[in-house]
Amino acid sequence: MAAIHLPRAMRIGAGALAELPAALAELGLSAPAVLTDPFLAGSGLLDRLLALLAEAGCPARAYGEVRADPTVASVEAAVAFVRAGKHDCVIGLGGGSSIDTAKAVAVLTVREGPMQALKAPHQENAPGLPIVAVPTTAGTGSEATRFTIITDEASDEKMLCAGLAYLPVLAVVDYELTLSKPARLTADTGIDALTHAMEAYVSRRANPFSDGFALAAMAAIWPNLRRACANPGDRAAREALMLGSLQAGMAFSNASVALVHGMSRPIGAHFHVAHGLSNAMLLPAVTAWTAPAALGRYADCARAMGLAEPGEGDQATVARLVEALRAINRDLAVPSPKAYGIAEADWQRLTPVMARQALESGSPANNPRVPEAAEIEALYREAWT
Ligand SMILES: [Fe+2]
Repeated sequence: MAAIHLPRAMRIGAGALAELPAALAELGLSAPAVLTDPFLAGSGLLDRLLALLAEAGCPARAYGEVRADPTVASVEAAVAFVRAGKHDCVIGLGGGSSIDTAKAVAVLTVREGPMQALKAPHQENAPGLPIVAVPTTAGTGSEATRFTIITDEASDEKMLCAGLAYLPVLAVVDYELTLSKPARLTADTGIDALTHAMEAYVSRRANPFSDGFALAAMAAIWPNLRRACANPGDRAAREALMLGSLQAGMAFSNASVALVHGMSRPIGAHFHVAHGLSNAMLLPAVTAWTAPAALGRYADCARAMGLAEPGEGDQATVARLVEALRAINRDLAVPSPKAYGIAEADWQRLTPVMARQALESGSPANNPRVPEAAEIEALYREAWT
């Protein structure tokens, strides 16, 4: 038995942004608060969105101060903004930070906090304000998930918060919004999406429904990630990445992520490494460590990604997969933690803390091979160089 949760409505494809007012009307929503980051607020995209809403007779207020890796304090500031208006929904416009902020704001606008009380294993299912997600990167899949990630700045912890309250009612997935993204951001977000798909597929909570989306996502993302990084204007590659990211989001929201994400969040929280980049730093080593416990599943991943040779067995196919993950990291200039500039003494000192926080998030328990704290610490040491 699988329990499946998805957004009520989605608009997918080139030009979908123009459909936002009609999609809101379909859901009976008419007074949005738009939350975005300072870059997008100044880029013209926010003005375009506000003009579309105004033309449709939909009065919106906009907050342009969303910060990267949102914190409890940054969410509370956005809650104050939304409470100061009369809004019937929140629109998160941007990457994962804007959408995750919108999700937390939607809940805290109608429910008492603090945000720390909502961290996993707590499940927040009672609806907050309706959430609308308009992603501008192909990576987080947050537009289709029942999760948000908020950093507790008091403890330097990226808190995973889960529940139906965080599932958008509407996702507007327009790949044209990603065409101008630079190669570094495309690489980081694309690897994040690939990691979602792989982890959803090998997860202990995988199911036939999530499997279909996970395999489709891997098939879409793998051959197009290098293309989009090499040529940001490649529309076919961008479209495939955007769809793959959405499919990966639907997969992991209904199957969960696993050890890579569990270990990645503490790296992001303590060392301020972009989320997709910290996933990429870990993905080859964690895949190699986990693969013996789920050889057939990882071989399926390699086949979906087009990496398998005909007639080759699972063992050899998975060896190709691990090597391909190392190769794409080289091609996309993913640094090791050491090359990123993290001080070795800090890495060593925080390794036990990061291992504990990884375990507490619950994600490693979904891994096909469930690690002890000491094994997570060994994996952090292995990823160092
Ligand atoms: Fe992720």
